[in-house]
Formats: sequence, structure tokens, C-alpha cells
Amino acid sequence: MDFKTLCTGCRTYRRFTQEKIAPEVLDELMDNVRIANSAMNGQVLRYVLVKDPDLVAKMQPMIHWAAALPKELGTPKVGEQPTAFVLICKEGRGNPWADVDVGIAARTITLNAYSYGIGSAMLGAVEFPKMTELLGVPEDWNPRLLIALGYPGCKSTIVDVPENGSIKYYLDENKDYCVPKRPLDEICIKK
Ligand SMILES: Cc1cc2nc3c(=O)[nH]c(=O)nc-3n(C[C@H](O)[C@H](O)[C@H](O)COP(=O)(O)O)c2cc1C
Repeated sequence: MDFKTLCTGCRTYRRFTQEKIAPEVLDELMDNVRIANSAMNGQVLRYVLVKDPDLVAKMQPMIHWAAALPKELGTPKVGEQPTAFVLICKEGRGNPWADVDVGIAARTITLNAYSYGIGSAMLGAVEFPKMTELLGVPEDWNPRLLIALGYPGCKSTIVDVPENGSIKYYLDENKDYCVPKRPLDEICIKK
């Protein structure tokens, strides 16, 4: 897959088929995030990979999906939910750049996943205290972002920003996602 195709397809997916992700693919994601860029090479991030179906099921109600959509449309139902998760945590107080590292780690995982056709969602609106208790995460690992993974059960397409200027994502008549992105000349000055 060329890089443009990877970047175009690597969107947020909120409905998934229930096909399992091969454990060796999940291991590859974790080994590539292990060697990701890190401010001062501090490597302050810690990860919890969850593929156990029982734990995966128990995590689902702790996630708040798609703030822009009515709950019944944006929240995956049983049979549409992600099949694995990666919880990205910061150990202790980390360093001032830790959240930049979180972004780099998240994008490394999601792009790597999509190179196998696996969809993802970066999730910040998560009931982290409940989740860390469920997963027995060490007390000094502070959760920052959850990555949901699974094979896409819907489409997601980039669209132009409409005339009214709204950048809210929406569902089309097939319940597929449409995600408006601003044009380059609005967000980048070229010199
Ligand atoms: C840091 C971060 C936190 C996010 N948290 C949530 C979330 O809690 N729930 C959700 O449904 N989507 C969440 N998203 C997904 C965004 O809504 C999504 O990236 C945005 O709508 C653009 O769509 P795209 O990822 O397909 O470009 C989050 C994305 C990022 C980068």
C-alpha cells in the first residue's frame, strides 16, 4: 500500500467486523511502537495490549464514542465492536513532551494496523479509572489514550468542507462516515 493510500484510508472507524486480528500482527504493532521516536529518547510511555475477548467485552461500555453523533448512530453495537485495544499510558509524571510521544505512538500503531487493512479509533473520552482497575494497570501508569482496533465494518471517506464551513463528521445514507478536512491553502503557508 502506498503512503497516500495508507493516510487516506487510516481514518477513525467506529464499526468493525468481528474477524480476529492475528496475534503476530498485534505483536508487530507493539514492537514497532517500541522503537518509535521519543523526546530525549525518554521512552516514558507504557502499553497494555488487550486481546482477551472477555476483557475486550468488559471495556466496551467504558468508551464514549462519536460526540458529534446521536449515541444510537455513533456507538458500535454488539457485533460491531472493536476486537482488540491498546491502552497508551505515561509512566509516572513522564516529561513535558510525553503527550507528543503519545501522538507519535498512536499514529504509529494506527498506520501500521491499516497497512494490514485493520481499522482503528483513537479514543480519549474513556472512563480510564474503571479501565485501569479492570486491567490491573500499575498505579504509576497514567492512561492517556486508548486505541481501538478491528477490521472495518463501515467506510470512512474524506470530503470537502461544505459551504457552511462545518467540520463535523457525519454519516451518509449508507451510514458510512464522511470526514470534512480543510484545504491545504487554509492551513499551510508556503514560502
Ligand atoms: C486525541 C484524540 C482523541 C479522540 N477521542 C475520541 C473519542 O473519545 N471518541 C471518538 O469517537 N472519537 C475520538 N477521536 C476520533 C476523532 O473524532 C477523529 O479523529 C476525527 O473525527 C477525525 O476523523 P478521522 O480520524 O477519520 O480523520 C479522537 C481522536 C484523537 C486524535
